[in-house]
Amino acid sequence: MRVDVLTLFPEVFEPALQSSIPGIAARKGIVSYHLHNIRDYSLEKHHKVDDRPYGGGPGMVLRCEPAFRAYEAVRAMDERPGRLLLLTPQGRRFEQAVAREFASSPRLILLCGHYEGFDERIRVGLPAEEVSIGDYVLSGGEIAAMVIIDAVVRLLPGVLGHEESAQKDSFSEALLEHPQYTRPPEFRGMAVPEVLLSGNHGRIEDWRKAQAALRTQDRRVDLLTCLDEKQENG
Ligand code: ADE
Repeated sequence: MRVDVLTLFPEVFEPALQSSIPGIAARKGIVSYHLHNIRDYSLEKHHKVDDRPYGGGPGMVLRCEPAFRAYEAVRAMDERPGRLLLLTPQGRRFEQAVAREFASSPRLILLCGHYEGFDERIRVGLPAEEVSIGDYVLSGGEIAAMVIIDAVVRLLPGVLGHEESAQKDSFSEALLEHPQYTRPPEFRGMAVPEVLLSGNHGRIEDWRKAQAALRTQDRRVDLLTCLDEKQENG
């Protein structure tokens, strides 16, 4: 997969994309990251990228011309068209199913806004899908873009090494994770559940499924409703 990021702050991506799973994926050659500064595509003096909103009001708005020029130049850098994602709190909610959908694309181009927002013609004139990572307002799209890249890249075949970590059966995937333990068997009076030390894989699997269901019931009952609806709809 090829990932292009159009941003005013390319430097904030470097550590996140070089570390942990996203970094491993790049070193394995499964993904390549390409960071582009939108400012480089501004035709204005001092590479200005923002301006005051027409009609007045606080803050600055990302101008059309650097965004369009950056997108067009970057798109032409590779023949795979890919999907253009515009990070905004007004977009489609990003969740695991969307991550899986994006993971099947050979290329993602992420456009990060800043300031008070985008000129509306960026939304309308570019073939972009607007994506939000949740109902809160970040100072810019960069952190949202990193969230999406991380969630997508770990799903790519070969990245995790142990495929079942990312691709569990659809039932357990819809639930919260069961509790995990590692050595020692007892720590400050807290013991690891006996079943996990039993070596009986069938019992362990049953216990994990039951724990995942209990935990989900307890903390996120909305996920169970969602699962019921999916099963009813086949
Ligand atoms: N930019 C600002 N807030 C955002 C959010 N919640 N999701 C995606 N992009 C954003």
